[in-house]
Amino acid sequence: MSGTFEALWAEIAPIGRAEDGGYFRYALTEPDLVLRDWFRVQAHDRDMAVTDDGNGNLFAWWGAAWGRGAVVTGSHFDSVPHGGGYDGPLGIVSAFLAVDRLRARGIQPARPLAVAAFVEEEGGRFGVPCLGSRLLTGAIDADRAAALTDRDGVSFAEALGARPAGELPNFSGRVSAMVELHIEQGRALAGPVGVASAIWPHGRWRFDFTGDGDHAGTTRMTDRHDPMLTFAYTVLAANKEARLAGALATMARVAVTPNATNAIPSLVRGWLDARAADTPTLDALVEAVVKRAVDRAGRDGTQVVVEPESASPEVTFDATLAGRLAALLGGTPQLPTGAGHDAGVLSAHVPTAMLFVRNPSGVSHAPAERADDDDCAAGVEALATVLEDLL
Ligand code: GLV
Ligand code: MN
Ligand code: MN
Repeated sequence: MSGTFEALWAEIAPIGRAEDGGYFRYALTEPDLVLRDWFRVQAHDRDMAVTDDGNGNLFAWWGAAWGRGAVVTGSHFDSVPHGGGYDGPLGIVSAFLAVDRLRARGIQPARPLAVAAFVEEEGGRFGVPCLGSRLLTGAIDADRAAALTDRDGVSFAEALGARPAGELPNFSGRVSAMVELHIEQGRALAGPVGVASAIWPHGRWRFDFTGDGDHAGTTRMTDRHDPMLTFAYTVLAANKEARLAGALATMARVAVTPNATNAIPSLVRGWLDARAADTPTLDALVEAVVKRAVDRAGRDGTQVVVEPESASPEVTFDATLAGRLAALLGGTPQLPTGAGHDAGVLSAHVPTAMLFVRNPSGVSHAPAERADDDDCAAGVEALATVLEDLL
C-alpha cells in the first residue's frame, strides 16, 4: 500500500457530510460506524490486526498488539454537529499513510506501532469529551460513562453494545509514546507543520434555569418568572467575564422546555464551555459567571442549578519530546492550543506529543474548516519522520 493523501482522503470525505459541506459524525451512529468499518479495511489491507479495548477505541497493530514499548498514533472520527471534516480524521488517515511511508523506506520497527481511532472525542453525542481516552486511562468511571445519554436518551452502553471495559491494565507500562496529528484550529501556524506545547485547561458546565411556565398572552410582564431571561443574561455575562479575564467562554447549546413560541418556558438548560491559559483564571471565570447567574435568578424569581459535566486540566506536553520532534522537523514552531484532544488525556500517562497541520482560515468546528492537500502531505511526512525516530 502506498497511495497519495488525496486518494485516501477522498474515500472518507463523503461519509456523514451534509449538502452544505458540514459533517454529522456523532460517535457510534451510522457515519461513524461506516468510518470504523473503513478503518478495519485499511488495517486489513496493511496486514495490521485490529484490537478493540472494550471502550470503543480501535487499534490497528503493526507488530504485536500491546507489545512492550508500543508507540501509538491516531486521533478520532467523530465530529461536532455540523463540524469540519479534518478535526480528527486527518490524524487517522495520516497515520495509515505514515505506515505506508515507513514500509516503503524499508523500516523494520523495533517496537509495535498502533494506529488508533478514539471514540467520542468531541463529546458531541454523550456530553463528555475524550470519552474513549478517559475510559482507557481510568480518568472516568466506567459506570458513569455507561450511563451517559445522548439527546434521544440512548446510553453510551447501549450505543456501544456493552458496559465499557474501563481502564486498560498497565497502559502506561506498555506504551512508550503517543503522537496525535491534528489540524490546527486557529491561525497560529505560518508553516505547514507545528508541534504542540500545551493545552489550555477547560471544561463544560450545565446550567439548569427553572421558572414558571405560563401563557405568553395572558401572563402580565410583571408577574413572570421567566428562566429564559436569566439564561440570556448569563450568556452575556459569560462573554463579558471572559473578555475581562482574557479567557474564553461560550454558551452555544441550549434546550428549552417546552420550546413553544407562545409559552413562557419552565426550564432552560444551557451549557457553558470555558477555557483559560491557566487554572486559577479558569476557576475565577466560572465562579464569576455562576455568581452573575445566581444574582440574576434572584431578580427574575427563577432558580439556577449548575452541574460540572467535564473537566480537562491544563496540559503541558513533554517538553523534551516536543523539543526533539521540533528539531527533527527542522526547527518547526511549538505552539499552545485552546482545543482539547485525546493526546491531552493520554499525556498524563505516557510521553505524548502532537503535530499540527496548518489551517489557512483558522476555522474549525464549522463546515469551512479545511487544510491544503500539500500541507496534509507534509503532515504525513512529518508524522513518518517522527514515528521512525520513536520506533
Ligand atoms: C474539542 O475539539 C474541543 O476542544 O472541544
Ligand atoms: Mn474538535
Ligand atoms: Mn479533534
